[in-house]
Amino acid sequence: RRGSWRQSASLQCRRFHTAGSHSKGRTGAEHLWLTRHLKDPFVKAAKMESYRCRSAFKLLEVDERHGILRPGLRVLDCGAAPGAWSQVAVWRVNAAGTDPRAPVGFVLGVDLLHISPLEGATFLCPADVTDPRTLQRIQELLPGGRADVILSDMAPNATGIRSLDHDRLIGLCSSLLDTAPRVLHPGGTFLCKMWAGSQSLAFQKRLTGQFQNTRTVKPRASRKESSEVYLLATQYQKGKEFAED
Ligand SMILES: C[S@@+](CC[C@H](N)C(=O)[O-])C[C@H]1O[C@@H](n2cnc3c(N)ncnc32)[C@H](O)[C@@H]1O
Ligand SMILES: *[C@@H]1O[C@H](CO)[C@@H](O)[C@H](O)[C@H]1NC(C)=O
Repeated sequence: RRGSWRQSASLQCRRFHTAGSHSKGRTGAEHLWLTRHLKDPFVKAAKMESYRCRSAFKLLEVDERHGILRPGLRVLDCGAAPGAWSQVAVWRVNAAGTDPRAPVGFVLGVDLLHISPLEGATFLCPADVTDPRTLQRIQELLPGGRADVILSDMAPNATGIRSLDHDRLIGLCSSLLDTAPRVLHPGGTFLCKMWAGSQSLAFQKRLTGQFQNTRTVKPRASRKESSEVYLLATQYQKGKEFAED
């Protein structure tokens, strides 16, 4: 199983298109998702769009199962390059105002790497989410200084040494969670990528202490990446005491 993360890091963000004749490259989970949703007019519209990365299907699936995105919400997308989750978020929160009758949301993507412009999204890059200066920029850019949803598909460059990669990812997620009191709106949602390891439980406990509900989600689209799961925490309960910051 060693090296599978490294491999997925390079493979999962190969340019990927949902429209056209690229179905050969699709995994079963992706195909299933598309097939099931062909009748939905909004999905039909989305299908015509090219996703920048297959990882889009993970967020689509989490959102479908748990309803974390809806028109009008403000989303902070951490580790956003090349921008597929941001594409999904722009569509689901109506950040480009595509649906004139629905509230218009906001999507802010942050990454160490450059992200090509995307209609309806604001990108802060290159920027390190763990850098205090980035936090300040994030607060300035978010409408009202807060996000309703924090997404993190952030991942360190995997070394293939499982415990080291786990520790680094925990470091990234913890650092992001530290910003929640200043950035996340009370009642908000936190979704982050996790690689199973010795600190998973402690991190999950931290989430449980700050959110009403915490669960582990394993999207079909990430089945092949054996140890990858997503932690979904909803109904953020901290933050009020920091609101005046
Ligand atoms: C799996 S990719 C994200 C794919 C993205 N969700 C998409 O759908 O297009 C992980 C990203 O996390 C970014 N990343 C890792 N550490 C970071 C940090 N400290 N600050 C910002 N981004 C970081 C990496 O540069 C990489 O682009
Ligand atoms: C991963 O490596 C690439 C290429 O060396 C670098 O540009 C990028 O910043 C690294 N990402 C992380 C999360 O360290």
